[in-house]
Amino acid sequence: MESAITVQGLVKRYGEITAVDGLSFSVGRGEIFGLLGPNGAGKTTTVECLEGLRVADAGEIRVLGEIPSPTNYALKAKLGIQLQETAFLSRLTVEETLLLFGRLYPRHRDVRELIDLVALGEKRRSQVKGLSGGQRQRLAVALAMVNDPELLILDEPTAGLDPQARRALWEVILGLKREQKTVLLTTHYMEEAEYLCDRVAILDHGHIIALGQPRSLVGEHFQETPVEIELSGPAEGVDFSRLPGVARAVPDGESVVLYSTAPTDTIRAVSRLAEEGKLSLRDLVLRRPSLEDVYLLLTGRRIRE
Ligand SMILES: Nc1ncnc2c1ncn2[C@@H]1O[C@H](COP(=O)(O)OP(=O)(O)O)[C@@H](O)[C@H]1O
Ligand SMILES: [Mg+2]
Repeated sequence: MESAITVQGLVKRYGEITAVDGLSFSVGRGEIFGLLGPNGAGKTTTVECLEGLRVADAGEIRVLGEIPSPTNYALKAKLGIQLQETAFLSRLTVEETLLLFGRLYPRHRDVRELIDLVALGEKRRSQVKGLSGGQRQRLAVALAMVNDPELLILDEPTAGLDPQARRALWEVILGLKREQKTVLLTTHYMEEAEYLCDRVAILDHGHIIALGQPRSLVGEHFQETPVEIELSGPAEGVDFSRLPGVARAVPDGESVVLYSTAPTDTIRAVSRLAEEGKLSLRDLVLRRPSLEDVYLLLTGRRIRE
């Protein structure tokens, strides 16, 4: 597959802090690729280097065949960027905002069509200052699309949105894929990465700790079913890893995730312990293993602290 982005050994430091520590990955044309990781993992720094907004300390970057830099205008014309925070001109309407920014490019998309694409038709003539968080994010994505770019780089496009607004934006992003655009997005929402991304790189402390298709990453690490139990007090003398079926037990604050090859046996054993008063159980859920489990397994932490 032809690459839209290649990154080799990217390093970026801020004084003493090494924010990005030798990243290598590539994004194929037409792919939705996710950089997934908790706050501080180095996602924004990475995308800012790709956008030419920051200069890397080491490594090689090619974006659509070009070396990004603040003055590479040929590249900028082919790129659509949504920064982690977008500042709008609050008194302009949605339509005026898109028209204004569209005029900055030699070629731009039809503004009406864009507004429909991000489902802001009702707000066409509303001032930006009156938009909800979700509507502003959709406008930011529309702005990233205004120059009809081949490649979109979206930094946490759905951060802080309610589930409904998030879903609406997911559909917009899938629409971009149908138009054969390439999308690089960052997120700390696991379910978002699973739903949207063809491939993901999981970042932790500036390193890639796993890379691949969401389903295969999960499959590579888990044959077991996670049984998650939440306790309302200490479970003295209970060795969860020795319960029937349990291959691994990963403590996580007040919860313990039991990765089980025989979940019904595990659940029965846990209920018996609860009945005998050896632990006080607040909640028990059985779920399908997800990227969240991959992250927890590889780092011993949850992505959202
Ligand atoms: N301008 C900056 N100056 C100093 N440190 C920074 C700056 N931007 C980010 N960092 C640090 O670099 C690390 C990675 O940050 P960032 O790339 O923003 O991660 P993410 O987007 O995954 O939350 C963090 O430790 C952060 O505190
Ligand atoms: Mg960030």
